[in-house]
Amino acid sequence: MSTKLSVNINKIALLRNARGGMVPDLLQFAKDCAAFGADGITVHPRQDERHITRRDVRDLAQIFPSSNCEFNIEGYPSLDFVRLVLDAKPSQVTLVPDTVNQLTSDHGWDVKANFKLLKEVLYEFHLAGIRSSLFIEADPIQLEAAKEVGADRIEFYTGPYAEAYYDARRHMQDVNKTVEKFKSVLSLIEELELGINAGHDLNLDNLKFFKANIPNLLEVSIGQALVRDCLYYGLENTIQMYKRELA
Ligand code: PXP
Repeated sequence: MSTKLSVNINKIALLRNARGGMVPDLLQFAKDCAAFGADGITVHPRQDERHITRRDVRDLAQIFPSSNCEFNIEGYPSLDFVRLVLDAKPSQVTLVPDTVNQLTSDHGWDVKANFKLLKEVLYEFHLAGIRSSLFIEADPIQLEAAKEVGADRIEFYTGPYAEAYYDARRHMQDVNKTVEKFKSVLSLIEELELGINAGHDLNLDNLKFFKANIPNLLEVSIGQALVRDCLYYGLENTIQMYKRELA
């Protein structure tokens, strides 16, 4: 089964915002990603709009989802965010437990501690026909709770995997240990009938091994490394290189 590649375009908005104009053109970049084979576009509007703005979300929503490219909006389910998502009607919403000034997502949900909030917002998304995913760690208790609050999918937080994989390779240690935690919950996830996405710090070095060990991996969302690789390989080549790792 091939895994879908959703390109996170936050960094393109960050570059644009650095000079205050409209270059690079975020919408054109997103359209080009789709034309070059991306299966999805991901954005993570934050409250301070330091990269993706609310307007970007509305503009992207005019184009995506398209027939070949999904639209995924990530974020903390504040009132503002929920309204934005319900207006934009993306293919998928991925909820992350970010605080307002957080640099980047660095932990999964404590679903139990946020049970009421998550259950309520996921119900709204469900009624609106928007698929939902919860950014989460490979913890059986959290996974069971994710099912109880009504998530369709979970997104494995892969930051610690990426770090462990890099260290293991550098010190010539056994890389199999780096995926043990994820593998240990796969049968539970199957029983719960949750789909599996993954994201954070995935790159051309660590992606193939992760995919090989998670047979039902439906989608990865990748931003930082993919945009960095574009500087050297160009957008079209880079997307194809990532897609090859996911085939
Ligand atoms: N998934 C989530 C929930 C994120 O917050 C991010 C970063 O915006 C990503 C995936 C993509 O991470 P990276 O930029 O390291 O590829």
